[in-house]
Amino acid sequence: MTDRPRPLVAGNWKMNGLIASLSEVSAIRDAVAAGGAGRAEVAICPPATLIAAAAGLCKDTKIAIGGQDCHAARNGAHTGDISADMLKDAGATYVIVGHSERRTDHAETNEQVRAKAEAVIASGLKAILCVGESKNEREAGKTLAVVGDQIEQSWPKGASAKSLVVAYEPIWAIGTGLTPTPDDVAEVHAFIRHQVQRLLGADGAGVRLLYGGSVKPSNASELMGVRDVDGALVGGASLTAKDFMGIAAAYKG
Ligand code: 13P
Repeated sequence: MTDRPRPLVAGNWKMNGLIASLSEVSAIRDAVAAGGAGRAEVAICPPATLIAAAAGLCKDTKIAIGGQDCHAARNGAHTGDISADMLKDAGATYVIVGHSERRTDHAETNEQVRAKAEAVIASGLKAILCVGESKNEREAGKTLAVVGDQIEQSWPKGASAKSLVVAYEPIWAIGTGLTPTPDDVAEVHAFIRHQVQRLLGADGAGVRLLYGGSVKPSNASELMGVRDVDGALVGGASLTAKDFMGIAAAYKG
């Protein structure tokens, strides 16, 4: 447990947020400047429509802005899609790839997720690669097999501790108020750490492994205190500065 990476608390706004919601970005920015996230890095991933404005509000601050998805190609005839270069141009430094909602709603495969993660890294941005099992898979005792396959098959070439973050998000815990026990989180994170070290060697110790799924101010300290949990990927509770900073406060003091 020496040389632990700096934790990351990232908010995934999903398909939520209008221009009026930028007031929450300003409030988060001010709370972080006042020390509210302690030693953690903070990132906000708003919808693509708000990235440029959010990045403007957070310019010259320690808050990072991220996208929630990107196309694998740099540009071209892909109506409605957004490339990693475009997200970078708008001010993003992170991009979430392989979120379970994209895997489900858009039938994204591990191969597609890998291509997206490679595009993110090629653009000089950092990928937050999401993995996680369904309720049926957990009940069938397949959690580690599923997560292991997802990591193996969606692992981008050229990844390093600087360019890749892995987020473990059990699908059944997303937006449900349910969370795995700390022991269950510890088991999966230890397994992911092992996989990452196998793929990256010594650099794997520095890859941040986030937990996501119903993280709230009331459970953040317990979940963030689990071994090999280096931060959180937060959905619903990231939409207000109050709740999001209540989670980031787990890294204060
Ligand atoms: P909730 O925090 O709303 O459960 O969402 C988690 C998530 O999917 C973050 O990417």
